[in-house]
Amino acid sequence: MKIIQVEDYHDLSIKAAQHIITKIQNEPDLVLGLATGSTPKGAYKQMINDFQKNNTSYRYVKTVNLDEYVGLAKNDINSYFTFMNEHLFNHIDIPYSQTHIPNGMAKDLQTECNNYDKLIHSLGGIDLQLLGIGHNGHIGFNEPYTSFKTRTHIVKLTSSTRYANERFFQHINEVPKYAITMGIQTILESKQILLLISGKDKRKAVHKLLVEQNMSEEFPASSLYDHPHVTIIADKAALSLT
Ligand code: GLP
Repeated sequence: MKIIQVEDYHDLSIKAAQHIITKIQNEPDLVLGLATGSTPKGAYKQMINDFQKNNTSYRYVKTVNLDEYVGLAKNDINSYFTFMNEHLFNHIDIPYSQTHIPNGMAKDLQTECNNYDKLIHSLGGIDLQLLGIGHNGHIGFNEPYTSFKTRTHIVKLTSSTRYANERFFQHINEVPKYAITMGIQTILESKQILLLISGKDKRKAVHKLLVEQNMSEEFPASSLYDHPHVTIIADKAALSLT
């Protein structure tokens, strides 16, 4: 694992965007795995700035998102579909047909999961997967004790994850109880992984990941130890217990 320490969230966003932009410049038809949550928002903003200033084109890029809530319509204000359009896709030149997010409203969710893995495979696999991390070490929506062998699947969200995401909703009762997520195996098959970690509230998770280094399904992010190309960009606050 390569660890890049940065001063703060602003720095992290710039470094993450540079990493992604360089990759796109070298491979314009990249398959880019994207994440939601607060952490990547700043990087997406920097990518939009770069697009406006330097015209880095996403015309041939294909994207696959990590996860989506079950039961939220695409145009729901809290769907990850809406998040990605608002925070990135509406502001760059990527054709919407080249952006992919699991459909949390699919009638047959299991078929949706299987088709999502097939889609990733048909695109030639993920070249670079962007990740955040949950307080309990979840990646995507793979909660503690998820098998490292999982492919895209349906998960029941833990109450800690639902409470962590409550801030985006009016009330905890509105936070969906289930989600579709790429599995840990699906994530690990990405050729490269970029994990972004910011803020004091992630410091215990960072301690587990970087200091304890105990590979266990109890801590999903520890699955990354086995991956040959992981870059972690973390700010000082997140690294404060290391
Ligand atoms: C959510 C997402 C994850 C994300 C995590 C951390 O549960 N499904 O992909 O990494 O939260 O989010 P944040 O960046 O807001 O701390």
